[in-house]
Order: sequence, then C-alpha cells, then structure tokens
Amino acid sequence: MIKIYAPASIGNLGVGFDLLGAAISPIDHNFLGDCITVCSSKIFNIINTGEFSTQLPNNMHKNIVYQTWKIFCKIIQKKIPVKIILEKNMPIGSGLGSSASSIVASTVALNIFFKTNLKKQKLLKIMGKLEGLVSGSIHYDNVAPSFLGGTQLIIQEKNIISQKIPMFENWFWVIAWPGSQLSTVISRDILPKKYTRKTCVQQNKNIATFMHAIYTNQKELALQVMNDLIAEPYRIPLLKNFDVTKKNLLKLGARTCHISGSGPTIFSICDDYEVAKTSETWLKKNFLQNKKGFVHICKIDNYGSKQVR
Ligand code: HSE
Repeated sequence: MIKIYAPASIGNLGVGFDLLGAAISPIDHNFLGDCITVCSSKIFNIINTGEFSTQLPNNMHKNIVYQTWKIFCKIIQKKIPVKIILEKNMPIGSGLGSSASSIVASTVALNIFFKTNLKKQKLLKIMGKLEGLVSGSIHYDNVAPSFLGGTQLIIQEKNIISQKIPMFENWFWVIAWPGSQLSTVISRDILPKKYTRKTCVQQNKNIATFMHAIYTNQKELALQVMNDLIAEPYRIPLLKNFDVTKKNLLKLGARTCHISGSGPTIFSICDDYEVAKTSETWLKKNFLQNKKGFVHICKIDNYGSKQVR
C-alpha cells in the first residue's frame, strides 16, 4: 500500500500566466491537498472520500485518477487492477490546483506502486497531459509546484519542463476560496486570442522584472511589477467583489492581491503576520459566500508531493 499527499498550488502568481506557480500549505498545519492511496486488488476500483468527494463524477471512468491508471497500464503494457482511494480535500474548480493535486498524487503513487521508476521530467509530462484532459489545454503551473514543491518557473522545453526558483521567505500567502466553483475551461475560453504589441511588451517587462527582482532580493520591485495583463483583467468580472476586496485588503496592509490560477480563489501577500491575521478575519467576514468557503494563511510548501501514512 502506498499513500501520497500533493499540496494545493497558486497558478500564475499574479504575473506569470501559465509560467509561474507555487505550492502552498497552511501555517496551521491543516492539509490543503489531496491524498491518494493505492493498494492491490482483484478488481479495479476507485473509492472517493474527503470533504469534497461529492463534487467528483459518479462515473468512475470520468475520474482523472482512472485516466492516470490507464496511462500506467499502457506504460507497463498490462492491466493490473488496483484499489485507489482518493481523499478529495480540495474543492473542484477553485483555482487552487485541485485537479493537479489529484493528478500529482495519483501519478507519484502509481509510479511507486508499479515500480515504473519514471524520472521527474517524464512524470511531469504525464501530469501535464492529464491536466490537459481536465482543463482543455496543457499547462504546468499547478502540477509542477504540487509535485516538486516551492515556486516553479515553467520552461516547457524538450528536456526540461520546470525549474525551481527562489521566493521571498517572509511572505504570507493569504488564500480565500469564496465557496463557489469556476471551471478552468470557461475561464481560459474567455481570454482573448490576440493581444496588442503594447500589452505583450508590458507583460514581458513585468515577468522579466519580477524574475530579476527575486534573484536580486528586491521585494518592493517584485511587488510593483506583479501585474498580469493576459488573464486577470478578463477574469475579474467572473468573480464577486474582487476590486472592492483588493482595495480593502490593501488598506489593511496587504502588499498585493490577485486571482489564484483561474479563480475564484484569490490570494493576497502580506509581509507581516498581524496583517495576515487581520486580512484573514476580514476575508472570512466579507469575501466568503457560504459556509463551505475558507481562508488560510499559507507559506510556500517547499516539499511538494510526499509519502504519508
Ligand atoms: N495557468 C492556469 C490558468 C492555471 O490561469 O488558466 C489554472 O489553474
């Protein structure tokens, strides 16, 4: 039996659409990520447990975990039945890399269980392919950090898909999921097909400067250029009260606020714990739409996926 945990992640990081992502974990040590357990079985079976398991498709063949198993059967050229327990701790369509979390945990678990011994970049390719099945296009900014931990820059070249980069250690990432769902397919479909040269230059400037700032330890510069022109402006109308929420968080002392991945989760960055606590309280009172919604103060999770008991 093998059990793997894969953490939640923030895609885009408010500046690098499809290029930057970070794994996160709540500072109160709560699990914010899915777990996959694989055990021997005479027949193939998926058992869904966890707080958000009711959001999963009833048809087991539509579960992304089934697709992961199918890929491994192809690799080993044999259909070996297994029992897979998916502990769905993450809300689907939340913008926190929920599908990525299931994909990463199942890929890592099956790689160990079947002793396929695939290397990291090969595993990432499989994860990207599976992510493409869920969200309509291959992007690695959730699977890479959830798998490898830390902040990842997506390179997506022949032999290298992703590279770990540094991140400011004193930042608290306050994430708030309002309790509603937003399909990644929809929030990708609404994006323009073309952008003006001015927009492209500005976007390039922002991400290049952000990278420069993190490698030269210039926090203020990094915060100044954390601005996305490709996705965020078009997605804000899909979220309830984003502008007013951002304005209030900045007033409370948060340093910036953006959409996490394709939303509707938002994240703010605080460089002071007291401000993070005040922001958490404010978000709980004003941003959450129902009892299911949650707010967590997080730090970057430098481990990524890991074996658990
Ligand atoms: N980079 C992806 C997007 C992340 O913004 O569509 C999806 O969570």
